[in-house]
Amino acid sequence: MKQYDFLIVGSGLYGAVFAHEAKKRGKKCLVIDKRAHKGGNVYCENVDGINVHKYGAHIFHTNDSAIWNYVNSFVEFNRYTNSPVAVYKGDLYNLPFNMNTFYQLWKVKTPAEAQHIIQEQVSSLNIKAPANLEEQALSLVGTDIYERLIKGYTEKQWGRKATELPAFIIKRLPVRFTYDNNYFNDKYQGIPVGGYNKLIDGLLEGIEVKLGCDYFEDKAYFDSLADKLVFTGKIDEFFDYRFGFLEYRSLRFEHERLEIANFQGNAVVNYTEREVPYTRIIEHKHFEFGTQKHTVITREFPKEWKGQSDEPYYPINDEKNTKIFGQYKQLAEECHQVIFGGRLAEYRYYDMHQVIGSCLKEVSRTFDL
Ligand code: FDA
Repeated sequence: MKQYDFLIVGSGLYGAVFAHEAKKRGKKCLVIDKRAHKGGNVYCENVDGINVHKYGAHIFHTNDSAIWNYVNSFVEFNRYTNSPVAVYKGDLYNLPFNMNTFYQLWKVKTPAEAQHIIQEQVSSLNIKAPANLEEQALSLVGTDIYERLIKGYTEKQWGRKATELPAFIIKRLPVRFTYDNNYFNDKYQGIPVGGYNKLIDGLLEGIEVKLGCDYFEDKAYFDSLADKLVFTGKIDEFFDYRFGFLEYRSLRFEHERLEIANFQGNAVVNYTEREVPYTRIIEHKHFEFGTQKHTVITREFPKEWKGQSDEPYYPINDEKNTKIFGQYKQLAEECHQVIFGGRLAEYRYYDMHQVIGSCLKEVSRTFDL
């Protein structure tokens, strides 16, 4: 009999939800994380009362009332509604594309006028089978929206010209013919009151957590501690990169404290010109309606992922990487004592509600079936 029922590698949302559910079922868990803090990418650093989203802006949204009630059982969520603003050559536009944006672009006031302009632009281009992302976007929304609000942002995000990116990246572009700046269509959205650390602390309450511990630094020792392993790190690293590296897109964040109360009047402002090197500026206090005398902003710069020294943020789910991941997945299926879960082990982009949903499914497979 080993010391713990479960060793959980990673204290992000997947690891924290699994640990909480296992504890509820009487299991003893040890959670380890190589970072100096809990919470994975939802971690917030408190700067004199402002919760700074250290790994990028995180806005919780879901249509699933069970998941909404689940997260609200650990911490109350506020009524924050994501309504980003885009800046292009000094002009401001509301996002997502809606009647406010169309008024700003063309001074049109009715849905029929806006639909007419978009249709005219789309049909004049006569794109039958879009060969790349640029053609795909143009065939969906026409020239003005594409040139001002999509092209530069997308090229910065991916580090490549839109004509060199595959069309499948943009499957659809939501266009809304109402005056509605709410970015998400989901029934529920908000930010935990007091920040995401409260959610993680609630999930991990009463569970042993060791920080600054890299599983791979002493794998044999960590394996000796528990009957079963839940692994939420990188799947290619787990298998010693034997089929090669899985690639990611990375980000660099520049955080800045300013001794003014309000820098940009909104939590999220996107910069859609190619020439501005960052994609967005986040002003964190607006996520929680902060009234502090100071503020903290973060500029987000997309960057090439160059291996171990960079944070892996967005998986590149192209043909090459999908094939490599398939090989690792097959090996994972043969490891019956290991549960692979979360964005790094499953090599996929998950929103927070999705990673929680996926973990809760795994919990019922593990304990309830
Ligand atoms: P996560 O990465 O959070 O946790 C994994 C943990 O494992 C990390 O703490 C890591 O240190 C640890 N670990 C890895 N290897 C280890 C090892 N060898 N030993 C020990 N520990 C190890 N979602 C959403 O719903 N709304 C939003 O607005 C956003 N915004 C957003 C912005 C950006 C820039 C990104 C990249 C992502 C988002 N997300 C999001 C998605 C959200 O971040 C995501 O759903 C969760 O963080 C995933 O949680 P995981 O537990 O899977 O991974």
